[in-house]
Amino acid sequence: MSLFDPWTLGRITLANRVVMAPMTRNRAADDGVLPSYVAEYYGQRAGAGLIVTEGTQPSEGARGYAGTPGLHNDEQQAAWAEVADAVHAGGGSVFCQLMHTGRIGHSSLLPAPWDLVAPSAVTADVAVTDASGREVPAETPRALETDEIHDIVEVYARSAERAVEAGLDGVELHGANGYLPHQFLSSGTNLREDDYGGSPEKRARFVVEVLTAMAQRIGSDRVGLRLSPGGKFNDMQGLDDDETYLALLDGLDGLGLAYLHVLRRRSTPLHEELRRRWNTTFILNTGYFGSSDFEELDAIVAAGEADLVSVGRWFISNPDLVERWRQGVALSPWNEDTFYTPGPVGLTDYPAATGPTAAIS
Ligand SMILES: Cc1cc2nc3c(=O)[nH]c(=O)nc-3n(C[C@H](O)[C@H](O)[C@H](O)COP(=O)(O)O)c2cc1C
Repeated sequence: MSLFDPWTLGRITLANRVVMAPMTRNRAADDGVLPSYVAEYYGQRAGAGLIVTEGTQPSEGARGYAGTPGLHNDEQQAAWAEVADAVHAGGGSVFCQLMHTGRIGHSSLLPAPWDLVAPSAVTADVAVTDASGREVPAETPRALETDEIHDIVEVYARSAERAVEAGLDGVELHGANGYLPHQFLSSGTNLREDDYGGSPEKRARFVVEVLTAMAQRIGSDRVGLRLSPGGKFNDMQGLDDDETYLALLDGLDGLGLAYLHVLRRRSTPLHEELRRRWNTTFILNTGYFGSSDFEELDAIVAAGEADLVSVGRWFISNPDLVERWRQGVALSPWNEDTFYTPGPVGLTDYPAATGPTAAIS
């Protein structure tokens, strides 16, 4: 087994085992519509076995950053159709990551009647960026009413439908890195005493309901989930993770989702137990500690510790990453200064080093 072997994911066949990890790039206009050069960016990276797109809000109220795209109206959907076409033209596959940021965000980014909401009114001890681009302390979110939770489940399901209508291959629920689903899962941010908090099963319930609703609309084999057990990003405490994540997997048992995508954290080996208990495709991201490394990732797949591996930053600077690894071509470094800046610079201008579009040196 190697990174270059194909893999069947639900109804699609991936050309290799390397997934482009979801990465926010903040190039969308204020209305959440992606410019065409973002479709070009994803098309350049179609050599990945699968692309998971940047986090995308399923409603206006889910938006936590200026420049993140939406997938809740026709104009946004049309821009996503361009992304789907560009990736498919290059022989790749693409899932859209749906992201509701919950307490991480700022009220100035939310048009009326939306406000900053979370499972409970627990303030994150982090700086957030407001609509004018200033760094400010995070605000205290309002605890969601039970009815509003049902509305958010529906918002995700409708957005998943739009993803498929746009021609995308599926959606990934962003349940990692301290955003709304993660806020439900953790007892540090979920102090609820209704059906959505108070026990591991109840803390897992929101995520189970969202995934079930999305699966009913577009098919479970088009729906994936990303988790970061033990992750402390965005002021998460990593509390009660083992019980909650195992209850979550019990709640998803039999649903037949396309995949589980886990960020490996040094603080816990829980990803190993999740791998053992998960019976469809398992994707591992080793990231952030140093950079994703070919030898390590190839060994992970060879040992069956994951079916697929996801890679973030190397894909920013190496559009033809998989082919470079296959041919042993040196990788180009990324420039952090242009991760989130507007315009195509730092997005579409990293040249390929292999294939017909390789820069002539
Ligand atoms: C610029 C940037 C944006 C990111 N945005 C997201 C995101 O929208 N959703 C998400 O789940 N992870 C996001 N991540 C995390 C990556 O998916 C990945 O887990 C991380 O980069 C570690 O992998 P790497 O070491 O291969 O880069 C982002 C990372 C970077 C560098």
